[in-house]
Amino acid sequence: MCYAIPGKVLELRGKKAVIDYFGESKTAVNELVNLAPGDYVYAQGGYVIQKINPKEAGDILETWKDMFFELQEMDKNFSRLSFDSSLDQKLRVILDKACDEKKLKDEELLYLLSLNDSKERETFFKAANFLRQKYHSNSCCVHGIIEISNFCKRGCYYCGISSHNKNLERYRMSKAEILEAVKQAYDLGFKSLVLQSGEDSGYNIEELADIIKTIKEKYPLLIFISFGEIGEDGLKKLYTAGARGLLMRFETSNPKLYQELHPGFELANRIEEIRKAFELGYLIITGSLIGLPGQTDKDILNDIRLADELHAEMMSFGPFLAHPDSKLSGIKAPSEDKIFNVMALARIEAAKETKILVTTAFETLSKTAREKGLVSGASSLMLNVTPIKYRKLYSLYPNRAHQEESVEDQIKDAVSLLKNLGRAPTDLSVR
Ligand code: 5AD
Repeated sequence: MCYAIPGKVLELRGKKAVIDYFGESKTAVNELVNLAPGDYVYAQGGYVIQKINPKEAGDILETWKDMFFELQEMDKNFSRLSFDSSLDQKLRVILDKACDEKKLKDEELLYLLSLNDSKERETFFKAANFLRQKYHSNSCCVHGIIEISNFCKRGCYYCGISSHNKNLERYRMSKAEILEAVKQAYDLGFKSLVLQSGEDSGYNIEELADIIKTIKEKYPLLIFISFGEIGEDGLKKLYTAGARGLLMRFETSNPKLYQELHPGFELANRIEEIRKAFELGYLIITGSLIGLPGQTDKDILNDIRLADELHAEMMSFGPFLAHPDSKLSGIKAPSEDKIFNVMALARIEAAKETKILVTTAFETLSKTAREKGLVSGASSLMLNVTPIKYRKLYSLYPNRAHQEESVEDQIKDAVSLLKNLGRAPTDLSVR
């Protein structure tokens, strides 16, 4: 956990810095030269990203001091666990086991995933929220995402920007436009950004590396890349340029389903690329689509396990929402209940450190996705900082949430929701 507040370096152990946040110490990888104990820094995703002057740090810490503990206390109170005495015995035993961090059997996990009674589901979510609080305290990751191009050479059956869609106007942001969007996001307080595009964005790897290098020279930001499968060499080049995270879903852990939706492509290659990225040192955000035709609950459980196995530092599970101009047009979306169940199950089954994202697709499906998701196991949000004129064209699925909202308004809404829940954003500094 690291807040978007300055921490004080207590000591340096080789590449690692031990950092103090109001009495809690955390470690982060340090790649800055001239860092010394006593310095104040921002750390994101386990990386020290910026050294800040002590006066500035002192001022920020002074304003945060009381709020930091107040918010933590509030979240703790909201996350208390109490099981109703009338609760079904079987469910009680399973949730007790989960909260005691004992491994659940497949049939128990599948039972949770299939819950549909509203009272039972509420208790399930409470258990997930209890674990979320226990592992992550009140921290909530808030990344920004810039969708730099909607060109794509792939023909994924579910996707609205796939090469099959001839009705879509294509765009590619220029380097200057990207830098302008990054500047806006940075000035508004973002500390980590995802750059995303369809596969074959119109930029080659050298050009992408140059963009990332320029961003890193200008701004202390943690950069995630999300350009599809770019190969080991591409991953290496972008890592060298300064990217430290990869957002790439494996889409489904079921190889047969994967092949049906991506003819000519292999799930194994995609998984291998995610593994390679982890080995190279990238932080991994991965996950899958929920509600794909033919997908079973067992598949979904396997999705959670695969994301875990791939060392997801953040999991991203979102509903499949049919695009009218895609091959799967007309297929019904999964119920919002299902997605809440998946998020809560992920919290119970995945590694403690894993963050869980409330995806934009889920926000598109459900008005309460954010508020309810954050108290059902989720611990992260992603705000869209793509220039508004391009957002509609990044049409993965129809009517995406936040298409018309300014970045300022999105921040205002997210921060006010987080405050009401007693959460503190970890990579968005609130001024
Ligand atoms: N519904 C929901 N999510 C989609 N994505 C692509 N198409 C859709 C859709 N129709 C997701 C994929 C991809 C990410 C960028 O967008 O999971 O990895």
